Amino acid sequence: MLVINNVTVKGKQVNILIEGDRVVSVGKRTRAAKGDVIIDGTSLTALPGFIDMHVHLREPGFEYKEDITSGTRAAVRGGFTAVACMPNTKPVTDNPYIVKYILMRAKEADNCRVYPVAAITQGEKGQQLTEMKKLKDAGAAAFSDDGVPVSDSRMMRNALLYASTFNLPVIEHCEDKSLVDGGVVNEGKNANLLGLPGISRASEDAEIARNIVLAEVYGVPIHLAHVSTRGGMQLIREAKARGVKVTCETCPHYMALTDDEILGFNAMAKVNPPLREEEDRQAVIAAIVDGTADCIVTDHAPHSKEDKDNGMYDSPNGISGLETSYAVAYTTLVRGGYIGQEQLCRLMTYNPAKILGVECGRIEKGGLADITLVDNSAEWTVDPEQFASKGKNTPFAGKKYFGRVEYTIVGGRVRYARKEEI
Ligand code: NCD
Ligand code: ZN
Repeated sequence: MLVINNVTVKGKQVNILIEGDRVVSVGKRTRAAKGDVIIDGTSLTALPGFIDMHVHLREPGFEYKEDITSGTRAAVRGGFTAVACMPNTKPVTDNPYIVKYILMRAKEADNCRVYPVAAITQGEKGQQLTEMKKLKDAGAAAFSDDGVPVSDSRMMRNALLYASTFNLPVIEHCEDKSLVDGGVVNEGKNANLLGLPGISRASEDAEIARNIVLAEVYGVPIHLAHVSTRGGMQLIREAKARGVKVTCETCPHYMALTDDEILGFNAMAKVNPPLREEEDRQAVIAAIVDGTADCIVTDHAPHSKEDKDNGMYDSPNGISGLETSYAVAYTTLVRGGYIGQEQLCRLMTYNPAKILGVECGRIEKGGLADITLVDNSAEWTVDPEQFASKGKNTPFAGKKYFGRVEYTIVGGRVRYARKEEI
């Protein structure tokens, strides 16, 4: 048995008993038998393990940026008990062998659950659909060409119709490439100040609108990745009100940061979609508050130091996000007074699980023992050198946040304990 004593669950002090991968009791019951593993939960809060449905683990092909072992280690350090990994690997995850390879490597790494996302089109080239049925049978949990959009609307329509026949979500990276037009940061005052070409919000919004139209006309679900704009959130809000089966996600960096971070030509803040302006940041928070945004994901996009040292034009987009996500979201949203802890659980666990169609942790009798213990009163400073991720690329370095992950329990087994790391 695994026993967590005196831990806070929904405001109450309880003991949690876990046997195998199940919670057997939550309440006053105690137990101390030989062989029990006991965690002192005093001053800690137990939450259902976080699920990040948008990460880049980079394996196979870009192991110098991240591999499945380092990426899932970063995940458990961040309190995640499951991640869904995007297919922009090398080769692209567009065939059953790579899906199976990822699952095998995840099992070897034995950190957290990994749900491979397979490509919508072969090689993410947008020309030909993948063999979705075979990919599903191999273990793919969703489809996406993330990193690039499926620009051809007919291709996207076919993908949505095909994927809906076997109930797997399609996740679209919304970007009209013709409107990006060489831009490297958000179009606006700061881009002008630095003399950098801007990326219009229209690039994201136009593609969000296209996808909503497809979902609406054909009556099929779609999940929109990393939404960053006020216009995009408004389109999604209105579509949901009409009953369109659209869901979406946003990221900690869009709720906490603006493109002020790029001042000084800071490539650590270069990400796609780009960090926007204060009005967008406020709109992202408003969308979280009113349920327009279903999930918080990291879009964990680790890159090497050499990659990111190439200046604003040539360095790749991306933020290494797994190890700062909870603290940034908790501090910004819960400490900021916008939402309660329970709504944060919906955004970081229940909704992603629902969209992916997977079981998630539940702190109740019979629930899956995927549990994260956090110390919400602990304030800490982000130091990328401490990351387990190979990607030290973060605009959050040096910033202070509340909420520290202390233990991550996956299927009843402690996969991360901060105490043991020090
Ligand atoms: C992602 C990556 O590096 O793979 N980068 C990013 O800035 N988001 C690609 C993506 O999610 O679009
Ligand atoms: Zn993307």
